[in-house]
Amino acid sequence: MSNKAWGGRFQAQPEEWVDDFNASIHFDQTLIDQDIEGSIAHATMLANQHIISETDKDAIITGLKSIQHDYHHGHIQFSTSLEDIHLNIEHELIKRVGNPGGKLHTGRSRNDQVATDMHLYTKEQVNNIIALIQSLQQSIYTIAAKHIDTIMPGYTHLQRAQPVSFAHHIMTYFWMLQRDRQRFNDSLKRIDINPLGAAALSGTTYPIDRHETTELLNFAAVYENSMDAVSDRDYIVETLHNISLTMVHLSRFAEEIIFWSTDEAKFITLSDAFSTGSSIMPQKKNPDMAELIRGKVGRTTGHLMSMLMTLKGLPLAYNKDMQEDKEGLFDAIHTIKGSLRIFEGMIDTMTVNTERLNQTVKQDFSNATELADYLVGKDIPFRTAHEIVGKIVFDCIQHGHYLLDVSLDDYQKHHPSIGNDVYDYLQPENCLKRRQSYGSTGQDAVRHQLNVAKTLLQQ
Ligand code: ARG
Repeated sequence: MSNKAWGGRFQAQPEEWVDDFNASIHFDQTLIDQDIEGSIAHATMLANQHIISETDKDAIITGLKSIQHDYHHGHIQFSTSLEDIHLNIEHELIKRVGNPGGKLHTGRSRNDQVATDMHLYTKEQVNNIIALIQSLQQSIYTIAAKHIDTIMPGYTHLQRAQPVSFAHHIMTYFWMLQRDRQRFNDSLKRIDINPLGAAALSGTTYPIDRHETTELLNFAAVYENSMDAVSDRDYIVETLHNISLTMVHLSRFAEEIIFWSTDEAKFITLSDAFSTGSSIMPQKKNPDMAELIRGKVGRTTGHLMSMLMTLKGLPLAYNKDMQEDKEGLFDAIHTIKGSLRIFEGMIDTMTVNTERLNQTVKQDFSNATELADYLVGKDIPFRTAHEIVGKIVFDCIQHGHYLLDVSLDDYQKHHPSIGNDVYDYLQPENCLKRRQSYGSTGQDAVRHQLNVAKTLLQQ
């Protein structure tokens, strides 16, 4: 005889190492609060529908609450042979309250139960992630607002391209995160749906009220199809995708932080509190936090791939393969929350080396487009102007200097219409000032951008 909850039709039971492979309790106890919340709603509905008595319901709810309390105070040891959080709690409940405990599972199955837990959990966590993203956006906004006039080289191909403001550069990440926040928000429509009452797959003969549990659990909608309710894991794939894409964005940002803090760039200085040292090289101060965040995108993307592969080819409805949806999701959520918090701390405490940034753009050719535009202003076709400036840059490289070091004589050898006003025109701060097209790096355009961002932050 088997002593399992499902043991009736079994003559023998699995050995311990088989139980161990089958069990999910070591990770799905994460869902204890959601499981108890779902059970309380289910018991309340069963009583309201006269499927169980008020007295049984009260005993169930008191029992569940005492289990929850004892778990959080470290007084409950779950057992692997009871497989998962659902059977462990049910077992404990029956132990504590007797027969009424055995009535809780009327009109439901672990299949809709686990789906309910996961929906509740994912919804809560996605809301936490949304708040953390918003908070990081606020930090980016705050530092950007201080650096509208700080000039730095903007890059393409990691070659210096044109001067931009530090505000403009860093606000790019604000907008990436804005899309991430929108995506997470939008995904709530597909997460916030109640599967409870779908039972094993086909619904139930008991006169349950799925709309009541939907309301009790504060879900926005109810699954229309019981088989879809127990087999849908799309919202987990979607959450893993949204996490992975946000982590991709953080990894790009992290890479910039790492580069900006090199001795070569010295654009920023990270706070000691967000850096680490070397066990052998006493001079080292390493951007480990940024590197870890850059690296962690590997795990979240791995979890996304793994979930997609687990679902591929699965027939309806519930299959035990679906137990594999948890560890990846839990880890991905833990990873992104940690990364967002650390990123915010890193941004809030870093120093932007304004002087160094403003000097850097004087030691490069990032004002070359500006010189071509200057010539266009003298009615020279852009293509011809590009060619002339290319030759001037070539000459500069030969002489080891930059555009602002070329004498007026030499300029005029390249084109007679270049006048003394060219030196003012080529100053990086003037390059910036002239860029006032919508969404560009000029101060007024960036001020407008920041205003739009501010409104979005308040939403
Ligand atoms: N531990 C299972 C999971 O995580 C719960 C559902 C089990 N259902 C079943 N019929 N075996 O998916």
